[in-house]
Amino acid sequence: MRHDAEPEVLNTSLNDETALREYARPYDTYRPGLVPRVLGWFLVACGDLVYGKKPSYLKFRSVEVIARVPYQSWESAVYTLLTLFYSSEERAMELCKLSRFANLAKDNETMHVVVISQFEKRDRKHGVFLRTVIPMIFAFFYYWAAYWLYLISRRAALELNYLFEQHAFAQYSEFVEKNADALKAKSAESAYLAWYGRPCANQYEFFRSVRNDELIHRNRSIEEIER
Ligand SMILES: [Fe+2]
Ligand SMILES: [Fe+2]
Repeated sequence: MRHDAEPEVLNTSLNDETALREYARPYDTYRPGLVPRVLGWFLVACGDLVYGKKPSYLKFRSVEVIARVPYQSWESAVYTLLTLFYSSEERAMELCKLSRFANLAKDNETMHVVVISQFEKRDRKHGVFLRTVIPMIFAFFYYWAAYWLYLISRRAALELNYLFEQHAFAQYSEFVEKNADALKAKSAESAYLAWYGRPCANQYEFFRSVRNDELIHRNRSIEEIER
């Protein structure tokens, strides 16, 4: 298996709808500050403008290209900050804990984008501009915005991520709910998924597991603030 087993156990437990609601409840009503709310609105509005409001393979692919970016930005920001706090074990441990979460989430988001890219290719061919150029340009600017935001305000950076992950969770929930039968009939065969260690019998199981991942990322973002 490519990664830690613990997040996979939590992910599988969220297939149960009652467990999912219970897990989501503590942070369903969390209200981020004004700056993350404005930035979050801007991110979602840009995505809707280019890819439409409705969930689709193409939109998910772009969302995933962008979703993995802040985790790497945070790791870089933590790396930068560590140079200032080598002499404080307490601060160093705080920073490394965030870095560990970011690392796991980054690998997880990479799995999403690689596997969804395969599904999107099988489903329909889109032009290089929508598939690659737009998400790449967006990811470039988002990387630096997330890096500086983390250095300026750790809370704002994590709250912005909460909003982005909440949006992703809502989109996957809608997709899984509305297309359950069609997704159950589609193969989720993927060498990368097998290597990652997440067995899925069909695309319904896969997208349900991605929905669960996004909720875990959402909650963990706020747990990091509260820790
Ligand atoms: Fe994702
Ligand atoms: Fe996520």
